[in-house]
Amino acid sequence: MKHALITGAYRGIGLEAARQIAKAGFHVWISARKVEEGEAAAQKLRDEGLEASFVALDVTDEASIQSAVQTVRAHSEVLDVLVNNAGVYPSGDGDISTLPASVLREALEANAIGPLLVTQAFWPLLQKSGSPRVVNVSSSAGRLYDMGAEMPAYGPSKTLLNAITRQFAGLDERVSVNSICPGWVRSEMGGQNAPRSVEEGANIITKLATMDSPPSGQFLNDAGEIGW
Ligand SMILES: NC(=O)c1ccc[n+]([C@@H]2O[C@H](COP(=O)([O-])OP(=O)(O)OC[C@H]3O[C@@H](n4cnc5c(N)ncnc54)[C@H](OP(=O)(O)O)[C@@H]3O)[C@@H](O)[C@H]2O)c1
Repeated sequence: MKHALITGAYRGIGLEAARQIAKAGFHVWISARKVEEGEAAAQKLRDEGLEASFVALDVTDEASIQSAVQTVRAHSEVLDVLVNNAGVYPSGDGDISTLPASVLREALEANAIGPLLVTQAFWPLLQKSGSPRVVNVSSSAGRLYDMGAEMPAYGPSKTLLNAITRQFAGLDERVSVNSICPGWVRSEMGGQNAPRSVEEGANIITKLATMDSPPSGQFLNDAGEIGW
């Protein structure tokens, strides 16, 4: 059985991606920094007849990342799919002329440096897969070509995540590494006015996790490749 790990997966797009990937026949690791919520989410998927386990993982805490690798490795030397889904939308990011460094740092730590460290930590396990994939859950807010003055912390944190995608994609052509934009999704982050469901948001993640011959080094949404 193939193994997939999804960060920040106890709710929202991450939980739905875990459900869809498990339905495709994977054993999924629900990872979250909130232990009770993460365990409950894994139990929920098991109650639906799916293969799911919980592992504690705070993407901003290197000791927590190493501990998660040990837990996963005790079950399997191979990881087939890593979904870097955990992310924050920091409040108080106003505009760039007054952006506090602390707010920018918070966004960079969770949305870019976290996925970097998690990917580095699981890279040896991914390289043992016959068809390894990393899906970085980014956002069109990180696109440079039409970036304006909105979201000066969140947007650039996703731009850096996209650069990390390109770096890993260039490192080993055997590993499919892509950035995706889920669209504006009804979740804790997206709010209830968003037009898309978590199911719709997670579809592109599942597609890249499960399709034959996945692309690499691309930025994608449901409709296909999008500009950086
Ligand atoms: N919703 C949208 O419209 C939209 C659009 C574009 C991109 N995205 C991206 O989609 C991803 C999922 O977001 P969502 O919409 O599903 O929102 P969400 O419900 O707020 O999910 C975010 C998840 O990330 C977790 N998280 C945050 N910091 C973490 C950390 N340091 N370690 C581990 N987990 C952490 C959160 O858990 P805690 O409770 O522990 O914080 C939560 O489970 C994010 O990367 C987001 O940027 C969302």
